Amino acid sequence: MFDKTHNEIVNQIVDVFMREFGSREGMVLVRTPGRVNLIGEHTDYNEGYVFPTTINRAVYIALRPREDLGCGYYSLNFQEKASWELTDIRRTEGHHWSNYLKGVMKVLGEAGVDFKGSEGVVFGDVPIASGLSSSAAIEVAAAFGLDKAFGLGLDPVRMSLLAQKAENAFVGVNCGIMDQFVCRLGRKNHALFLDCRSLVYENVPLRLAKHGLLIVDTKVKRELAQSAYNQRRAECDEAVRFFQSKVPSVKALRDVDPEMFGRYRDGLPETVRRRAAHVVSEDDRVLEAVKALKADDLEKVGRLFFESHRSLKEDYEVSAAELDFVVETARASGASGARLTGAGFGGCAVVLARKDILDGLSQDIEVHYVRKFGKAPGIIALAENFETEVLAL
Ligand code: GLA
Repeated sequence: MFDKTHNEIVNQIVDVFMREFGSREGMVLVRTPGRVNLIGEHTDYNEGYVFPTTINRAVYIALRPREDLGCGYYSLNFQEKASWELTDIRRTEGHHWSNYLKGVMKVLGEAGVDFKGSEGVVFGDVPIASGLSSSAAIEVAAAFGLDKAFGLGLDPVRMSLLAQKAENAFVGVNCGIMDQFVCRLGRKNHALFLDCRSLVYENVPLRLAKHGLLIVDTKVKRELAQSAYNQRRAECDEAVRFFQSKVPSVKALRDVDPEMFGRYRDGLPETVRRRAAHVVSEDDRVLEAVKALKADDLEKVGRLFFESHRSLKEDYEVSAAELDFVVETARASGASGARLTGAGFGGCAVVLARKDILDGLSQDIEVHYVRKFGKAPGIIALAENFETEVLAL
C-alpha cells in the first residue's frame, strides 16, 4: 500500500469509492500531508515557537454529502467500513481510524457548524505512530473535506483549532497546536514558523539549495510516549508556577528568557530545572533557525539541529537509543545536522545534509542501523512537500 505513485493512489481511491457507493457523482477528493518538525520541540504547549514543514506523505479522503445524518466511511489501509449517525457519535475502543473522523464531526457539531451525513473512502501513506502526524493529517483532511463538500467556509486557523480539539477531547491525546496547524496551513516549498501563543505565523521559503532533508523512521513505536508526554507537560507547569512566584507576569515558559532562567534556576528541583532549560533554549533556537534559513545559512540550521537533539536527550529526556544512534551516525557521516523530531521516545529523526553526500549518508544510516538493531529504518527523502488541497480528478 505504501510508496504508490500519486496516480495509482488516486485511481484506487476512486475505484473503491465507486465500488462502495455506486457512483462518484458529487464526490470531492482532498489531501492533507503529514509533517516533520524542523525545530521547536515541546515548545508548542509552552506557548513558544515551532518551525515544522509538511511532507510528501498524506491522508486522502474522497467524500460526498448525504441527505440524512448517517455516515459511512471505508478505510483502504484497514480494508473495513465504519458507520455511525451524527446524532449518536461514540468512540470506538482503541486507536480506531474512524475515531478521527468521528471526533472532527463531533467537535464541528458542538461548535455549531451546520452539515449533514456523508460517505467516503480514506487512505493514508503517512507512516502511523511514527511521529509524522498521521493523526493530525486525517483530522485536518476530514475537516477540510467536510468544509469543501458542504461549502462551510471555515477559516483555516479555526479549522486547525477544531481539529486539535478533536484530538484532545475525543481521541484523548493532550497534544499542542503544532501538528494540526501546519497540516492545515503549511505551504508547498515552505516551512511554517508559528508563534503558538498568538497563532501569528509565517510561511518561510524552504530554500535548501545545495542541501537536502531525510526523515529516518526508527520504527520504534512510541508506547511510552503518551504518559511521558503528559508528565513533561506537568513538569513544565511546575516550572511555570515557580517562575510565577518570582515574576508574577509569567504565564507560560514562553515568558522565561535565558536571562530570567539564569537568575532563578538554582531554586528549581533538578529535573524541573532541566526541563525548563530545554524549553527556554529551544525557543531561542527556533528564532535562530528561522533567521539562518532566511539567510541561506543551512550549516547553521544544522548546528541548531544537533544542539536541539542534545537538549532533548539530556535535559528533556525524550530520546531513545535508536534516535541517538541515527543522530550520531549522521554526524559521523558528515551531516550538517540531525535531531529527533516529534514527541520523541521513538518515531523519527530529521537529518539535514549537503546533497552531494545525501545518498551515501542514507546508505550509511541504513547499513549501520540494521547491523545494530537488526531491523531496517524507513528513510524518506523530503522531496516536493504537499499542502492541504482539493485534488482535481
Ligand atoms: C507531539 C504533539 C505536538 C508537540 C510535539 C512535541 O507531536 O502532538 O503538539 O507537542 O509532540 O514538540
